Amino acid sequence: NGFFTFDPGFMSTASCESSITFIDGDEGVLLHRGYPIEQLAVSSDYLETCYLLLNGELPTPAQKEEFTAEIKKHSAVDPSVANIIKSFKRESHPMAILCSAVAALAAVYNDEIDITDEASRKLTAYRLIGQMPTLSAMVYKHSKGEEFIAPDDSLSYAENYLNMTFGTAGKAPNVSKTIAKAMDRIFVLHADHEQNASTSTVRLSGSSGTNPFAAIAAGISTLWGPAHGGANEAVLKMLEEIGTVENIEACVARAKDKTSGFRLMGFGHRVYKNFDPRAKVMKQTCDEVLAELGLENDPLLAIAKRLEQIALEDPYFISKKLYPNVDFYSGIIMKAIGIPTEMFTVIFALGRAVGWYSHWNEMVSGPYKIGRPRQQYTGSPKRDYPNK
Ligand code: CMC
Repeated sequence: NGFFTFDPGFMSTASCESSITFIDGDEGVLLHRGYPIEQLAVSSDYLETCYLLLNGELPTPAQKEEFTAEIKKHSAVDPSVANIIKSFKRESHPMAILCSAVAALAAVYNDEIDITDEASRKLTAYRLIGQMPTLSAMVYKHSKGEEFIAPDDSLSYAENYLNMTFGTAGKAPNVSKTIAKAMDRIFVLHADHEQNASTSTVRLSGSSGTNPFAAIAAGISTLWGPAHGGANEAVLKMLEEIGTVENIEACVARAKDKTSGFRLMGFGHRVYKNFDPRAKVMKQTCDEVLAELGLENDPLLAIAKRLEQIALEDPYFISKKLYPNVDFYSGIIMKAIGIPTEMFTVIFALGRAVGWYSHWNEMVSGPYKIGRPRQQYTGSPKRDYPNK
C-alpha cells in the first residue's frame, strides 16, 4: 500500500507509446498518422483510412487497389460462424451476438495465427476488416429472420455493407451515393481514437499473447457500454423519450440533478474539453443525409438541435466543459438510413475494428510486457482461521 500510483479511471496514466493517433482534447484536435480527421472524413474514404492507420502512410493508387482486393478476397464468413449466429435467439442484443461471432473467428483461424510473423498478422487484418461488414449484416439479418446475403465484390465497402443489410435474395436495395458516402464517413469517423476503454482492453488482453480475434472480442464487449460506444443507441432512445421540444428543459434539469442518476447521452468526453471534432463532421453529414431523404423537418433532429443549443448555453454544461460527442448525431443519420437503434453500436464496432487491430499490431510488433496493474488493498489485515 502506498507504493503504487493510484489513478482511478486512468485520468493521468499513459499506458503505452503509440504513433497512430494524436488527440489534443483542449483544442479539439484529432489526427490519424498526422492527418486531421476533418480532412480524412471529407477527402479520404474508409479503406484508405484503414491503410493509413495500419501502415502509417496513405497508399499509392496501386497500393490502394491491392489493399481493397485483399479486403474483398477475405470478406466471406466461415459457415461455422454463420451457424453460431443462427443459434442465437432472434431478440438477442446484436452486440452480444457480434462479440460471440468475432470470438468464434479465433477458433476458425487459431491454427494459422502466428503473432510474431508479419505476414500472418496482415492476413488477420484483412480477415477482420473484410468480415466485419459481413458479420454485422448477418447479425441484423438474423434478428429479422431473413436469409444472409453474400458479399458482392463489385460494390464499395459501405455499399456492400448496406447491400448485405438491406438487400434480399435477388434484389439489391436502392442505395444513393449520398447514403453510401454517409455510411462510409461514419466508418471513417469511428476508425480510431487512441487509448479509449475498448482499445485499452484489446491491448491489455493482447498483452498476454492471446489470439487477436479473442482480444478484439474483448474490445467489442467493452464498447457495448453506454458510457462508450453504447451511447449512440442511448442518445436515440433519449431523444425518442423526450418526444417533443417542450420536454427538453425537463430532460436537461434531470441531467443536472446528481440524484437522478441520469446523464445527457451524447454529451461529454474524457479527453475533449472544448469540442469533439468528429461531432462537427457528423452534424454536417446529418444535415446532408436528411436533406437528401427529404427529412429536414424530422422531429428527432429538431429535438437534437434544440437540446444541443440549450445545453451549450447552460452554466452547468459550460462549467463542466460538456459538449456533444461523436455519438450525438450519428444515431440520427443511422435512423434516417433505416438502421434499427440496437444496431448502432455494431456499426461503431465495424468502423473501430481497424483501430483495435492497429493498436494490437503496434504492440506485438515491438517489445511489450503483459499488462498487470497493481491495486491499493482496502481489505482485512492478516488474521487466523478460527479453530473449529
Ligand atoms: N450529463 C450530465 N453530466 C455529466 C455528463 C453528462 N453527459 N457527463 C459528465 N457529467 C458531469 C459528471 O456528473 C461530473 O460532474 P461532477 O464533477 O459534479 O461530479 C462531471 O461532469 C465529470 O464527469 P465524469 O464522469 O467524471 O467524466 P469522465 O471523463 O469520467 O466521463 C463520459 C466521460 C463520456 C463517460 C461522460 O461524459 C458521460 O457519461 N457521457 C454520457 C455518455 C456518452 O455520451 N458517452 C460517449 C462518449 S464519446 C464516444 C466513445 O468514446 O465511445
